Amino acid sequence: MRIDIITIFPEMFQGPFSHSIIKRATDKQLVDIHLHQLRNYATDKHKKVDDYPFSGGAGMVMMIEPIDNCISSLKKERSYDEVIYLSPDGEVFNQGLANQMSSYDNIILLCGHYKGIDERIRTHLITREISIGDYVLSGGELAAAVVVDGLVRLLPGVLGDETSALSDSFQDQLVSPPVYTRPRSYKGWDIPEILLSGNEKLISEWKHDQALQRTKERRPGMLED
Ligand code: ADE
Repeated sequence: MRIDIITIFPEMFQGPFSHSIIKRATDKQLVDIHLHQLRNYATDKHKKVDDYPFSGGAGMVMMIEPIDNCISSLKKERSYDEVIYLSPDGEVFNQGLANQMSSYDNIILLCGHYKGIDERIRTHLITREISIGDYVLSGGELAAAVVVDGLVRLLPGVLGDETSALSDSFQDQLVSPPVYTRPRSYKGWDIPEILLSGNEKLISEWKHDQALQRTKERRPGMLED
Protein backbone atom coordinates (compact mmCIF):
# COMPACT_ATOMS: atom_id res chain seq x y z
CA MET A 1 0.00 0.00 0.00
CA ARG A 2 1.19 3.51 -0.80
CA ILE A 3 0.06 6.42 1.39
CA ASP A 4 0.68 10.04 0.36
CA ILE A 5 0.17 12.57 3.12
CA ILE A 6 -0.27 16.26 2.33
CA THR A 7 0.57 18.47 5.30
CA ILE A 8 2.13 21.75 6.39
CA PHE A 9 3.79 19.90 9.31
CA PRO A 10 5.54 16.80 7.89
CA GLU A 11 7.82 16.71 10.97
CA MET A 12 4.81 15.78 13.12
CA PHE A 13 4.86 12.28 11.59
CA GLN A 14 8.49 11.51 12.39
CA GLY A 15 7.76 10.14 15.87
CA PRO A 16 4.77 7.91 15.11
CA PHE A 17 6.24 6.59 11.85
CA SER A 18 9.76 5.77 13.07
CA HIS A 19 8.87 3.19 15.71
CA SER A 20 7.11 -0.07 16.29
CA ILE A 21 4.75 -1.58 13.73
CA ILE A 22 4.76 1.26 11.17
CA LYS A 23 8.56 1.33 11.09
CA ARG A 24 8.67 -2.45 10.70
CA ALA A 25 6.12 -2.35 7.88
CA THR A 26 8.06 0.43 6.15
CA ASP A 27 11.38 -1.42 6.52
CA LYS A 28 9.80 -4.57 5.08
CA GLN A 29 8.40 -2.45 2.21
CA LEU A 30 4.85 -3.51 3.03
CA VAL A 31 3.84 0.14 3.10
CA ASP A 32 5.30 3.12 1.31
CA ILE A 33 4.55 6.41 3.07
CA HIS A 34 5.33 9.75 1.40
CA LEU A 35 5.03 13.12 3.13
CA HIS A 36 4.41 16.20 0.98
CA GLN A 37 5.01 19.70 2.30
CA LEU A 38 2.01 21.64 1.01
CA ARG A 39 3.96 24.92 0.98
CA ASN A 40 6.12 23.54 -1.84
CA TYR A 41 3.02 23.66 -4.03
CA ALA A 42 2.21 27.30 -3.28
CA THR A 43 2.63 29.65 -6.21
CA ASP A 44 3.76 32.87 -4.49
CA LYS A 45 7.18 33.66 -3.09
CA HIS A 46 5.96 33.55 0.53
CA LYS A 47 4.68 29.99 0.06
CA LYS A 48 1.25 31.08 1.23
CA VAL A 49 -1.28 28.29 1.72
CA ASP A 50 -4.09 30.09 3.61
CA ASP A 51 -6.19 33.20 3.14
CA TYR A 52 -9.04 35.18 4.72
CA PRO A 53 -12.55 33.70 4.42
CA PHE A 54 -14.95 35.44 1.99
CA SER A 55 -17.61 35.28 4.67
CA GLY A 56 -15.50 37.43 7.00
CA GLY A 57 -15.04 36.37 10.62
CA ALA A 58 -12.11 34.91 12.48
CA GLY A 59 -9.70 32.29 11.19
CA MET A 60 -7.99 31.53 7.92
CA VAL A 61 -8.99 29.04 5.25
CA MET A 62 -6.63 26.77 3.33
CA MET A 63 -6.48 27.83 -0.32
CA ILE A 64 -7.46 25.67 -3.30
CA GLU A 65 -4.48 26.12 -5.57
CA PRO A 66 -1.61 24.60 -3.54
CA ILE A 67 -3.79 21.60 -2.62
CA ASP A 68 -4.98 21.14 -6.20
CA ASN A 69 -1.39 21.42 -7.47
CA CYS A 70 -0.19 18.77 -5.04
CA ILE A 71 -3.07 16.33 -5.63
CA SER A 72 -2.82 16.78 -9.42
CA SER A 73 0.91 16.09 -9.45
CA LEU A 74 0.36 12.88 -7.46
CA LYS A 75 -2.52 11.79 -9.69
CA LYS A 76 -0.29 12.22 -12.77
CA GLU A 77 1.94 9.44 -11.43
CA ARG A 78 -0.71 6.87 -10.39
CA SER A 79 -4.40 6.45 -9.71
CA TYR A 80 -5.75 6.60 -6.16
CA ASP A 81 -8.48 4.56 -4.48
CA GLU A 82 -9.44 7.53 -2.33
CA VAL A 83 -8.43 11.13 -1.68
CA ILE A 84 -9.24 11.50 2.00
CA TYR A 85 -9.66 14.69 4.01
CA LEU A 86 -9.29 14.37 7.79
CA SER A 87 -12.03 16.43 9.34
CA PRO A 88 -14.02 16.39 12.60
CA ASP A 89 -17.28 16.31 10.60
CA GLY A 90 -16.25 13.27 8.52
CA GLU A 91 -17.37 9.66 8.81
CA VAL A 92 -16.08 8.29 12.14
CA PHE A 93 -13.10 5.94 11.73
CA ASN A 94 -13.74 2.47 13.11
CA GLN A 95 -12.48 -1.08 12.68
CA GLY A 96 -14.88 -1.79 9.79
CA LEU A 97 -13.56 1.20 7.87
CA ALA A 98 -9.96 0.24 8.68
CA ASN A 99 -10.58 -3.30 7.35
CA GLN A 100 -12.15 -1.93 4.17
CA MET A 101 -9.40 0.62 3.55
CA SER A 102 -6.59 -1.87 4.21
CA SER A 103 -7.35 -3.44 0.82
CA TYR A 104 -6.57 -0.18 -1.03
CA ASP A 105 -3.39 0.18 -3.11
CA ASN A 106 -2.95 3.97 -3.07
CA ILE A 107 -4.51 6.65 -0.90
CA ILE A 108 -3.96 10.35 -0.32
CA LEU A 109 -4.54 11.83 3.15
CA LEU A 110 -5.01 15.60 3.29
CA CYS A 111 -4.44 17.29 6.67
CA GLY A 112 -6.34 20.50 7.23
CA HIS A 113 -5.59 23.44 9.52
CA TYR A 114 -7.02 26.77 10.63
CA LYS A 115 -10.76 27.07 9.92
CA GLY A 116 -10.62 24.28 7.35
CA ILE A 117 -10.13 24.04 3.60
CA ASP A 118 -11.92 25.86 0.78
CA GLU A 119 -15.18 23.93 0.31
CA ARG A 120 -14.53 23.52 -3.43
CA ILE A 121 -11.67 21.14 -2.62
CA ARG A 122 -14.12 18.97 -0.69
CA THR A 123 -16.64 19.11 -3.50
CA HIS A 124 -14.32 18.44 -6.42
CA LEU A 125 -11.19 16.64 -5.20
CA ILE A 126 -11.99 14.77 -1.99
CA THR A 127 -13.62 11.34 -2.25
CA ARG A 128 -13.96 10.55 1.45
CA GLU A 129 -13.86 12.47 4.73
CA ILE A 130 -12.78 10.81 7.95
CA SER A 131 -12.98 11.91 11.58
CA ILE A 132 -11.22 10.08 14.41
CA GLY A 133 -13.83 11.15 16.94
CA ASP A 134 -16.20 13.86 18.05
CA TYR A 135 -13.68 16.42 19.25
CA VAL A 136 -11.68 19.07 17.45
CA LEU A 137 -7.91 18.71 17.07
CA SER A 138 -5.65 21.58 15.99
CA GLY A 139 -5.03 19.93 12.65
CA GLY A 140 -5.45 16.73 10.68
CA GLU A 141 -1.91 15.38 11.29
CA LEU A 142 -2.59 13.41 14.47
CA ALA A 143 -5.80 12.06 12.93
CA ALA A 144 -3.88 10.99 9.80
CA ALA A 145 -1.28 9.22 11.96
CA VAL A 146 -4.08 7.35 13.77
CA VAL A 147 -5.64 6.25 10.47
CA VAL A 148 -2.26 5.14 9.08
CA ASP A 149 -1.55 3.09 12.22
CA GLY A 150 -5.01 1.51 12.09
CA LEU A 151 -4.50 0.51 8.44
CA VAL A 152 -0.87 -0.54 8.37
CA ARG A 153 -1.20 -3.13 11.14
CA LEU A 154 -3.84 -4.89 9.03
CA LEU A 155 -1.65 -5.26 5.93
CA PRO A 156 -0.67 -8.89 5.26
CA GLY A 157 2.75 -9.72 6.71
CA VAL A 158 2.94 -6.70 9.03
CA LEU A 159 2.04 -8.39 12.31
CA GLY A 160 4.28 -11.32 13.21
CA ASP A 161 1.41 -13.60 14.15
CA GLU A 162 -1.14 -13.28 11.34
CA THR A 163 -3.98 -14.08 13.69
CA SER A 164 -3.22 -11.32 16.12
CA ALA A 165 -5.02 -8.60 14.12
CA LEU A 166 -8.00 -10.93 13.77
CA SER A 167 -8.26 -11.30 17.54
CA ASP A 168 -8.18 -7.52 18.14
CA SER A 169 -11.02 -5.82 19.91
CA PHE A 170 -13.85 -4.94 17.48
CA GLN A 171 -12.88 -7.50 14.81
CA ASP A 172 -15.74 -9.79 15.80
CA GLN A 173 -18.01 -7.05 17.20
CA LEU A 174 -16.67 -7.75 20.70
CA VAL A 175 -14.00 -6.03 22.80
CA SER A 176 -11.01 -8.17 23.78
CA PRO A 177 -11.06 -10.44 26.83
CA PRO A 178 -8.54 -9.75 29.66
CA VAL A 179 -5.00 -11.14 29.29
CA TYR A 180 -2.42 -12.10 31.93
CA THR A 181 1.26 -12.96 32.04
CA ARG A 182 3.71 -14.18 34.67
CA PRO A 183 3.81 -14.24 37.64
CA ARG A 184 0.60 -16.16 38.25
CA SER A 185 0.27 -14.52 41.64
CA TYR A 186 1.44 -10.99 42.51
CA LYS A 187 0.80 -9.43 45.93
CA GLY A 188 -1.97 -12.00 46.30
CA TRP A 189 -3.58 -10.92 43.01
CA ASP A 190 -4.17 -14.23 41.26
CA ILE A 191 -4.92 -14.98 37.64
CA PRO A 192 -8.22 -16.79 36.91
CA GLU A 193 -7.77 -20.50 37.73
CA ILE A 194 -9.18 -21.61 34.38
CA LEU A 195 -6.15 -20.26 32.51
CA LEU A 196 -4.01 -22.85 34.27
CA SER A 197 -6.34 -25.73 33.42
CA GLY A 198 -4.69 -26.58 30.09
CA ASN A 199 -8.19 -27.24 28.69
CA GLU A 200 -8.17 -25.30 25.41
CA LYS A 201 -11.89 -25.64 24.79
CA LEU A 202 -12.86 -24.34 28.23
CA ILE A 203 -10.32 -21.53 27.99
CA SER A 204 -11.64 -20.48 24.63
CA GLU A 205 -15.24 -20.49 25.98
CA TRP A 206 -14.08 -18.46 29.00
CA LYS A 207 -12.42 -15.90 26.71
CA HIS A 208 -15.57 -15.57 24.66
CA ASP A 209 -17.75 -15.14 27.78
CA GLN A 210 -15.38 -12.50 29.14
CA ALA A 211 -15.39 -10.64 25.83
CA LEU A 212 -19.19 -10.75 25.71
CA GLN A 213 -19.56 -9.56 29.30
CA ARG A 214 -17.09 -6.70 28.76
CA THR A 215 -18.83 -5.66 25.58
CA LYS A 216 -22.20 -5.56 27.42
CA GLU A 217 -20.68 -3.45 30.20
CA ARG A 218 -18.46 -1.14 28.17
CA ARG A 219 -19.82 -0.97 24.62
CA PRO A 220 -23.44 -2.15 24.67
CA GLY A 221 -24.02 -0.32 21.37
CA MET A 222 -21.72 -2.77 19.57
CA LEU A 223 -24.04 -5.66 20.36
CA GLU A 224 -27.08 -3.76 19.08
CA ASP A 225 -25.25 -3.08 15.77
N1 ADE B 1 -9.07 17.54 12.35
C1 ADE B 1 -9.42 18.20 13.47
N2 ADE B 1 -10.10 17.42 14.31
C2 ADE B 1 -10.21 16.20 13.70
C3 ADE B 1 -10.83 14.97 14.07
N3 ADE B 1 -11.48 14.81 15.21
N4 ADE B 1 -10.74 13.96 13.20
C4 ADE B 1 -10.10 14.11 12.03
N5 ADE B 1 -9.51 15.25 11.64
C5 ADE B 1 -9.56 16.29 12.47
